[in-house]
Amino acid sequence: MVNHNCFYIAWNGGLVGKINPFQPNGPVAPGMFSGRLKEIQILEKGLFQTKNGNPLNFLITGERGIGKSSLLNYMRPLADGSIKSPDFERFDFIVINISISEKMGLVTLIKLIERNIKRKVGKVEKVRNFLDDTWSFVQRIKVMDSGVEKAAVVEDPDLLIDDLAYSLSQTCMRLTSPEKGEEKKDGIAFFIDESDNSPPELRIGYFFKVLTEMLQQHDCSNVMFVAAGLPEISEKLYSSHESSLRIFSELKIKELRPEDRYYVIEKGVERGNEVNAEKTTITKSAKSHISTLSEGYPHFIQQFSYSAFEFNSDGEISEDDVLSGAFNPGGALDAIGSRYYASRYHEQIKSDEYRAVLSIMAENMNDWTTKSYIKDMFSGSEQTLNNALQALTSRRIILRNQSKRGEYRLQQKGFALWIKLFGERGK
Ligand SMILES: Nc1ncnc2c1ncn2[C@@H]1O[C@H](COP(=O)(O)OP(=O)(O)OP(=O)(O)O)[C@@H](O)[C@H]1O
Ligand SMILES: [Mg+2]
Repeated sequence: MVNHNCFYIAWNGGLVGKINPFQPNGPVAPGMFSGRLKEIQILEKGLFQTKNGNPLNFLITGERGIGKSSLLNYMRPLADGSIKSPDFERFDFIVINISISEKMGLVTLIKLIERNIKRKVGKVEKVRNFLDDTWSFVQRIKVMDSGVEKAAVVEDPDLLIDDLAYSLSQTCMRLTSPEKGEEKKDGIAFFIDESDNSPPELRIGYFFKVLTEMLQQHDCSNVMFVAAGLPEISEKLYSSHESSLRIFSELKIKELRPEDRYYVIEKGVERGNEVNAEKTTITKSAKSHISTLSEGYPHFIQQFSYSAFEFNSDGEISEDDVLSGAFNPGGALDAIGSRYYASRYHEQIKSDEYRAVLSIMAENMNDWTTKSYIKDMFSGSEQTLNNALQALTSRRIILRNQSKRGEYRLQQKGFALWIKLFGERGK
């Protein structure tokens, strides 16, 4: 009874506050999505080409929290036709949505693909029977897999990928040239998130390379792969198959432009006013502060806006609300730090002097900084500086310039920004 009341009160707003419309903890809903017009157009063209028999594949890369998953979330309903694309006729792809985990093996990946396809297209009985036949190799893996105790049968990955390519091409052909009474589809679009998680055993580069080539050999030309992940995915693809990168066009996701940052903030406030009885407004200078503080990092925009919304008590979000929400304990910076950077900054770096080196470098964001510049700014000894650069490089917290001696940079702008802002708060 008590719980029930709490729920009621929380949802009614008023008594315990308003429902906060900002989403710092997960991909943004398509309705509050901002910017990325160029990327969306490129992906739409990819869908159009794939629909018309010229399949294209994309690799979406970008730092943590830059908006890769949000972009995938935005593209999925466009691809399956739930929303009409502004520039093309309504697409009608079967959309397969997969997230790679750190322990995923090839068999699991294949089972996930099979399961998703059956879920999406297996509603009509005739098609279901067709799918059961076409994907029967997966049942065989299951038997072998569970039939042997402990030492699970390790199947030859080449054979598995060959089976997968065959089944996928058969399925795609059936969907694009259906039998009487069945719905015609544009093809199959794969959205594979968190690809950078791929363990070496998954050989993700080899998987994509061989699969796409085999699909071609089987005359299957309506399957598109969109893989998203942190920038190191490129390295992973390359190390598991040297030419696997060539099958993808890379879309590097960058910071949002100022007008797109404003849109995120305004759309959020608008959404808040739809769900809350009590209205909220935001001043121009509050928006400008959020935009500047965030430097265009979408997760920072969401978090600063969220905290400002929480902090505000008079119905108008002001510059003060933004600043208090950002810098107060428990505010935006704390939240951002503990989600993304704190473990790297505090646990992996035990020494204040090493952190001082990072602060000096952060002034330059993630641009290359020369060792002599750091030395000038650093109060410790040269030996300590050498040790710091060595340790930070080997932990991949900073990068060493391969083509220019004595230059280092932070891996991510977001991390640099956090160090800068965090340092500010410390003062
Ligand atoms: N285009 C956008 N418009 C508005 N908000 C966005 C946009 N893109 C991302 N965000 C917000 O930024 C945050 C991070 O987004 P998202 O989870 O998509 O990033 P990501 O790159 O997938 O992160 P990760 O590397 O952790 O997987 C979320 O709070 C999300 O709401
Ligand atoms: Mg993501």
